[in-house]
Amino acid sequence: MSAPDPAKIQIFREHLHREWTDEQTIAAWRKWHAGIAVYSRGATDAILEAAQIRPGQRVLDLASGVGDPALSIAGAVAPTGRVTATDLGPGMMSLAEELARKQGLTNIEFREADAEALPFTDESYDVLTCRFGIMFFPDLGKALRECFRVLKPGGRVAFVAWGKMDQPFFTSTAANLIKHLPVPPPPPDPDAPGIFMFGERGRLRRALEAAGFTNVHEEHRTINGHWAGPPEEYWQQFSEVAAPFRPLIAQLSPEKKGAAVADILASLKKFWNGKELNMPLEIVIGSGTRP
Ligand SMILES: C[S@@+](CC[C@H](N)C(=O)[O-])C[C@H]1O[C@@H](n2cnc3c(N)ncnc32)[C@H](O)[C@@H]1O
Repeated sequence: MSAPDPAKIQIFREHLHREWTDEQTIAAWRKWHAGIAVYSRGATDAILEAAQIRPGQRVLDLASGVGDPALSIAGAVAPTGRVTATDLGPGMMSLAEELARKQGLTNIEFREADAEALPFTDESYDVLTCRFGIMFFPDLGKALRECFRVLKPGGRVAFVAWGKMDQPFFTSTAANLIKHLPVPPPPPDPDAPGIFMFGERGRLRRALEAAGFTNVHEEHRTINGHWAGPPEEYWQQFSEVAAPFRPLIAQLSPEKKGAAVADILASLKKFWNGKELNMPLEIVIGSGTRP
């Protein structure tokens, strides 16, 4: 991993913090969380499997958002195990707390925590999990060293991230927006965090090894993204929830937006069987052990 430029990282950090603690983002996740939980069920299963979750463990879940996979893990480690669910700010987690109460989960607590500076003592967890969060850590090396620090020797780490960009989650949606932009977006900064950065084979494995983890395993897997509604509803959800892509929509004139949405719905219809959408989603799963 090349040495990060601190000034650049600080800019990424401020941008990502704004994006993920923004009221619009939080309201959208509150509105659509039940559908998203079903859509991403395969990713929850994958992380529980990679983390080798079992009753009695003490688990730290990073970037827990509205509670996936922290709530499922709390169920799986019960009755004697405990989960600490964390996120950048209280907004997303307030829903996770409500859902935990409704589900009667008493072995989960919620803490504000930035992955780059974890407010936990050394060697305090058996397992650390993080689903769809690692792509947003501005200084990846620093965050992974924090993960290593808070795990007990022999403890396990498991991440799930999006796989390559060339998959329907992107090609059916944001790629169609980009086609209609008045000016094409500049190429992304190769050092910037990015949703599909771990689609590059070996990148997650190398990052885990650089942080000191051993028995590192990286797997690219296709799961089924099931959405129990029509393409129009899926697009509505995507356009509200996908914080990194919302600025693209804002750049389109009403006319261009209409044309982009027509293309998006035509692309999404390929996955619609008249009752539900079933979309192949490529994810990457990375795991390792603290020696
Ligand atoms: C796409 S959401 C994923 C949430 C949840 N884990 C899931 O799988 O649905 C990304 C989450 O990462 C969190 N996040 C972004 N940067 C973070 C950081 N530096 N430290 C901790 N959490 C962060 C955001 O607040 C957001 O809740």
